Amino acid sequence: MDKIRIQGGVPLKGKVFLSGAKNAALPIMSAALLTDGWVNLSNLPALRDIQTEKRLLSFLGASLDEGSEGCLRINASRIDQFEAPYDLVKTMRASVLVLGPLLARFGRARVSLPGGCAIGARPINLHLKALEMMGARINLRSGYVDAKARRLRGTEIGFDTPTVTGTENLLMAAVLAQGKTSLGNAAKEPEVVDLANCLERMGAKISGAGTDTITVQGVTHLQPTDYRIMPDRIEAGTYLVASGITRGEITLAEYDGSHLETVIMKLKEAGLEFDQKKSGLTVRGPRKIKSVSVTTRPFPGFPTDMQAQFMALMALGQDTSVIKETIFENRYMHVSELRRLGADIQISGNQAVVKGVSKLRGAPVMATDLRASASLVLAGLAAEGMTEISRVYHLDRGYESLEKKLSALGANIERIKEVK
Ligand code: EPU
Repeated sequence: MDKIRIQGGVPLKGKVFLSGAKNAALPIMSAALLTDGWVNLSNLPALRDIQTEKRLLSFLGASLDEGSEGCLRINASRIDQFEAPYDLVKTMRASVLVLGPLLARFGRARVSLPGGCAIGARPINLHLKALEMMGARINLRSGYVDAKARRLRGTEIGFDTPTVTGTENLLMAAVLAQGKTSLGNAAKEPEVVDLANCLERMGAKISGAGTDTITVQGVTHLQPTDYRIMPDRIEAGTYLVASGITRGEITLAEYDGSHLETVIMKLKEAGLEFDQKKSGLTVRGPRKIKSVSVTTRPFPGFPTDMQAQFMALMALGQDTSVIKETIFENRYMHVSELRRLGADIQISGNQAVVKGVSKLRGAPVMATDLRASASLVLAGLAAEGMTEISRVYHLDRGYESLEKKLSALGANIERIKEVK
């Protein structure tokens, strides 16, 4: 397995271009299953999860045609498999996003149950309950969800808790259902809105995406479309923290801070300075980092996907910060690794108390999940001496060309390829 080696302590300076959002790209690629013509997508990030999604769509029988960088055409006119097999689902939970579209268009889908993952149990019970309410017959057998429906029927659904991929799966199910579906307590994440925008371009009748009630009037047929994936707000947030933690100055090219308001507000409290120009958003790291407390919440609250990176910044705060994780029950895997770099963090239940230290020192650490890995990279960039991060395949799932982008900003970072 590859490793990343960082010689820390260099203030990062320069301009970075954001990639397309992984968590918008994955549902939108699945949405191509809803129509039988060529869907032309652009601004897809070059990531391992996108490769996995391509493998899944090909397995189902879709034709894929790679275009220039970030472009992909998908044609789902010859789907002849209706199953997301265990091998693919276990490497990427977002594979469950084919359930809604397959069921809506073909009346059948078989999807492996994802099982737990590094950050929590992450069940899909709310997806299944809502699909049953739309008339799907669902059986759980041998680790698979077997779903069948003649034609899904619109109904009123209220999610017990807002779920991002649950809302996306149901949205894709509802667009081809008979009659009107209302999704209450829906996720308001911008990636859900990006999917809804793409579906509307395909002819779906959707209102309220981005609010907590989404209404869908089912249609019988959707058309293919062209669609450009939104920029990745979590990648953006990660580079903002990189600037703060290294006391650097980074410009996020062609980005206006959209969808990251809560994170930017907290970073301003920590002392980072922002300057928005037409060409992009520039952020300057402070000489001294103020300790700030955060609680993760569904959008528009502080995103759980930025918690680990923010904690790395707070590890160097002047005082004490309290970080509460309310979305996933086990998203503190980075804590023990940050401690190896000298951070002073105590966990009690879903709360982490971070007492700022004046310095982190490089050490060998291990990546455990995508965002935890990003927090270790950030800590390594700020630490004195060398940090070596193993199991970086987690990073390759979600950050396009991370070492290249950081090197271009002046970081002393290299990938050590595994000798096979
Ligand atoms: N939940 C249930 N039952 C369900 C669905 C969700 O109990 O049927 C619970 C979850 O266990 C969790 C909460 O509801 O406690 C919210 O989970 P959600 O369903 O919103 O998460 P997700 O859809 O599985 C997406 C992102 C995650 C991101 C979360 C929260 C994608 C592909 N994944 O996951 O992204 O952390 O929303 O914003 O969109 C990442 O990119 O690193 C990542 C993990």
